[in-house]
Amino acid sequence: MPFTSNRDFKADPRIVARGEGVYLYTAEGRPIIDASSGLFCCAAGHSRPEIADAVHRQLATLAYTAPFQLGHELSFELAHRLAELTPEGMNRVFFVNSGSEAVDTAIKVALAYHYARGEGQRQRLVSRERAYHGVNLGGTSLSGMVKNRQAFGLGLAGIAHIRHTWLPENRYQRNQPADGAELADDLEKIVQNFGADSIAACFVEPIAGSTGCLVPPVGYLERLREICDQHGILLVFDEVICGFGRTGEPFASQTFG
Ligand SMILES: Cc1ncc(COP(=O)(O)O)c(C=O)c1O
Repeated sequence: MPFTSNRDFKADPRIVARGEGVYLYTAEGRPIIDASSGLFCCAAGHSRPEIADAVHRQLATLAYTAPFQLGHELSFELAHRLAELTPEGMNRVFFVNSGSEAVDTAIKVALAYHYARGEGQRQRLVSRERAYHGVNLGGTSLSGMVKNRQAFGLGLAGIAHIRHTWLPENRYQRNQPADGAELADDLEKIVQNFGADSIAACFVEPIAGSTGCLVPPVGYLERLREICDQHGILLVFDEVICGFGRTGEPFASQTFG
């Protein structure tokens, strides 16, 4: 099992039998609050009859169509409904199977975007310390967590990490911390070191969620946006954890403007 002390688990398995609403239940019926909604993927709760019915209806209609040269009208309907939630102007939807696949796809989209515009030399990526971007090779390479990387070789070439914002003075604060916006200037340093025209994209979790809940300092994301715009670098928000309503708006990019 991933991210699990497997020996401990084997010695004392923690098995969940079912879920309902916000609760998981053990076989003995002990309720456990599912505070992370699965791995952030069950935000609507467990065992919702209307969701189970919709899944059943679809399975009874059509299990799958390849997305190559074929389509099903519900995938277009879902894409339209998602585009109503996403920030204005972001109306392209590409369905994948997981957050990890989304991140690796975003890397490819960023590289292909520059290539199509005649700037195929923009191949470097920037990420952050303490970042988590899933388990595929691209996301693992972006990772800023040593244990998630050290056994897996060199990863993708050309990835630079800027500092995280988990300053001692930012701990135990409500809302956005006041200090640390200047840490975004690390991106400017990377630009000075490598040249803006070699950098494709900067990947950021607006609220980093895998090594604590690291809310961005006031002005930090805005500064990253400014530097990216100035140098033609794409700013990619990985909202696998903080998206879909968790910040009050559909996405953190809207909450933080
Ligand atoms: C920020 C972030 N990106 C990517 C992922 C990977 O998502 P998945 O587990 O669906 O592959 C996660 C998972 O927790 C995540 O928190």
